[in-house]
Amino acid sequence: MNVAVMGYGTVGSGVVEVLTKNHDSIVKRSTQSELEVKYILDLRDFPGDPNEDKMIKDFNIILNDDDVKVVVETMGGLHPAYEFVSSCLKAGKSVVTSNKELVAAKGCELLSFAAENNVNFLFEASVGGGIPIIRPISQCLAANEIDEIAGILNGTTNFILTMMIEKNMSFEDALKLAQDNGYAEKDPTADVEGHDACRKICILASLCFGKHVYPDSVYTEGITKITLDDVAYVNAYGGVIKLLGRAKRMENGKIFAVVTPAIVMQGSQLASVNDVFNAILVRGDATGDVVFYGKGAGKLPTASAVVADVIDCARNMGRKKPIGWGEAEENYVVDYKTAENPLYIRAAVEDYEKALSEITEKVGNVKVLVFEGCKKTEIAFVTECGKESELCEKLNSVNGIKIESLIRVTDY
Ligand code: HSE
Repeated sequence: MNVAVMGYGTVGSGVVEVLTKNHDSIVKRSTQSELEVKYILDLRDFPGDPNEDKMIKDFNIILNDDDVKVVVETMGGLHPAYEFVSSCLKAGKSVVTSNKELVAAKGCELLSFAAENNVNFLFEASVGGGIPIIRPISQCLAANEIDEIAGILNGTTNFILTMMIEKNMSFEDALKLAQDNGYAEKDPTADVEGHDACRKICILASLCFGKHVYPDSVYTEGITKITLDDVAYVNAYGGVIKLLGRAKRMENGKIFAVVTPAIVMQGSQLASVNDVFNAILVRGDATGDVVFYGKGAGKLPTASAVVADVIDCARNMGRKKPIGWGEAEENYVVDYKTAENPLYIRAAVEDYEKALSEITEKVGNVKVLVFEGCKKTEIAFVTECGKESELCEKLNSVNGIKIESLIRVTDY
């Protein structure tokens, strides 16, 4: 069986490396007599690369070669990945991708092209890098109704927050270190503003709840506004700040889904997930909480997931695997402010005592937070659990405070 790889960047070159290095065992597991990379599509030149003879620049060579049965898309971005993948599926080729942007934006449509052509569209590597999560959700947890899913889905931001929490490092220095280590996206905005995590929670929520969740329907907040003061106050509360993607099935069949910095309590399963590691907690009605943990980024972990999908395509030639979801109705994702949770607030104040007494009067009981060396010109506290819209209305009615940070407290 012949494979083509589109995109010879970090992941694509990792895929070719793994397919070459583990060739014999992969062929055996694929149940095919042979499994070889025939083409590598990339607009760049790679002089001296051991795979130079396979390099092409024209996508049509792959499309028109009937011997290519599986196409790996590791180009990233929406265009031309969407056009290339659509054409391959319509031409009866299975496609494996690591491209979360593509799956989050176009997954439902591409899955329907795959079904119409009796081929597979697999995307294990699009969430959690080397962590098995797509297949476990769709197969191993298939007996459950999944009520909720929450994850540390971005390695770069988890690395930055870990450096801030454990090394008291500034956000800027920690981001620079993450980039130097090769964790960040080309444009780190997608990491630090939460867009990358948003794409991943959309894929997970679509898979868990059966209808496509589009990124623009998911409220998304990154970590750029988190300060070292927040870290210290939250530590005094007994929690840690993590960037979480969260999705939950509501009683009316709709979905709550957000990406925000969130407080998880020290000692909880997600609190100890540090550095570039990812973790995904799946709350099933039969299993209870199951947590998947591992390296969420990096060349070989991600390539491992891609190659496993290639093997799966090879084993399931002529048979579409039942992985997928349908279109969603309008307003499928509810307003995030309808969620109920306690809120951590840090606010600038002119008169601390006066502000505290007004907060207590208007917002109700709050847990005031302090740490050694904290400023008297700001107040930090955690409210009782309440609907976010109502808590925000009460907070906005307090005179003499300027809210600088709002972080949701979770029960994970
Ligand atoms: N930039 C991403 C991260 C890469 O840091 O998690 C993996 O999707």
